[in-house]
Amino acid sequence: MFHRNPKLFIAYRTALRFYLRALPPHDVSQAGKLGIRALKCGLETLDLARLHEEVLIDILSTDSPVHHAELIRLAGSFFAEAIMPIEGSHRVAREKNIQIQAAMNELRKRSQELVAKNKELKKEILHRIRMEVALKASEATTSKLLKESLHFQDELRSLSRNHFQMQEEDRKIISRELHDVVAQTLTGINIRLTALALQTHANSREILKNIAITQRHVEQSVDVVHRFACDLRPTVLDDLGLIPALNAYLIDFTERSGIASKISAFPTVENISDEEKTVLYRVAQEALVNIVRHSKADHATLTIRKRNNILTMKIRDDGKGFAINAPKSGTNKLRLGLLGMRERVEMVGGKFLLESSPGKGTTIQVKLFLPLEQTDISAPPSSTNMQTPDPWNASPFC
Ligand SMILES: Nc1ncnc2c1ncn2[C@@H]1O[C@H](COP(=O)(O)OP(=O)(O)OP(=O)(O)O)[C@@H](O)[C@H]1O
Ligand SMILES: [Mg+2]
Repeated sequence: MFHRNPKLFIAYRTALRFYLRALPPHDVSQAGKLGIRALKCGLETLDLARLHEEVLIDILSTDSPVHHAELIRLAGSFFAEAIMPIEGSHRVAREKNIQIQAAMNELRKRSQELVAKNKELKKEILHRIRMEVALKASEATTSKLLKESLHFQDELRSLSRNHFQMQEEDRKIISRELHDVVAQTLTGINIRLTALALQTHANSREILKNIAITQRHVEQSVDVVHRFACDLRPTVLDDLGLIPALNAYLIDFTERSGIASKISAFPTVENISDEEKTVLYRVAQEALVNIVRHSKADHATLTIRKRNNILTMKIRDDGKGFAINAPKSGTNKLRLGLLGMRERVEMVGGKFLLESSPGKGTTIQVKLFLPLEQTDISAPPSSTNMQTPDPWNASPFC
């Protein structure tokens, strides 16, 4: 007797007996239902086979042995149907197993890939760390080089400041020497020549003629010496100030070049330091030389204004102008005028600006940042048109 599940045993026996006694065609649906029930009860293939065997022995024991072979064959069909749900569940499990196996294989493959990627990542991280270290080292070198170059720049600036200062001092001395000694000596010679001419007898016409010629040479030399002294360093700049010096320079500029010029400036500009005055004078001088040499202008104006604590000197011409960023063509000559102007201005902490374009003239601007106590702009600007002689510091001489 199938002792594990007697109810199932009885149900199976009833169904099989009914199946064996029924006339063909045999209905196997009951076998299928019993198979599902057996599966739900937790029976495996072997368990159901054992149940079937026990039930069959039980049935056959009550039947005539003549029919046994036929009954066993029919019972086999019944069993085949009953076992189907259990077999089916095994198949599903097998398929699931296959799927899990495939998933595990995939997982294994992925984790291998991950390990490989991890290795690569570690290599990359190491590489990056090395690069970072190298970068930091190069950054340190660059910043060291930058510091050094800034230091050299400072040194260069201080050297060129010293150079300009010494140059100004030398010019001052030479100019004074020329003006006070050489020119005076020449003037003295001239006076002596005049006296000599008066003392010479009337019949010495040849001597008189020669004296007159010599005197003319001497006078010309005096002129040249004065002009040279003035160009070197106008004594008027130190003795009377910036505006008279610029005034004198512009009168001479107009006389020599034929370019009409005009100046307008605030008298309080004289309060700035001597060094700043020299810078303004030298920039104006260089800019005016450029106007004569390059601009073909009809007019030049020089203005000095103050707003708040900023002093602005502008030198403008209405000449042909030039393309500031155009590559330098032609001669290999060094062009130092504009560079020198900028250098001088920056040396005193100022700003140098250049505006020009072909056909539009040229404007040079110098901005000096004055201490606050110098920002008094109460005095009105002085304005002079150099075409009309100016009573205010009229002498073009130094
Ligand atoms: N006012 C101006 N009008 C037209 N062109 C100008 C003017 N000022 C300067 N330039 C142009 O700018 C160039 C550079 O001027 P910069 O004063 O630096 O040199 P340079 O006058 O040629 O030589 P130097 O070194 O003797 O001064 C000039 O050669 C000229 O072409
Ligand atoms: Mg120049």
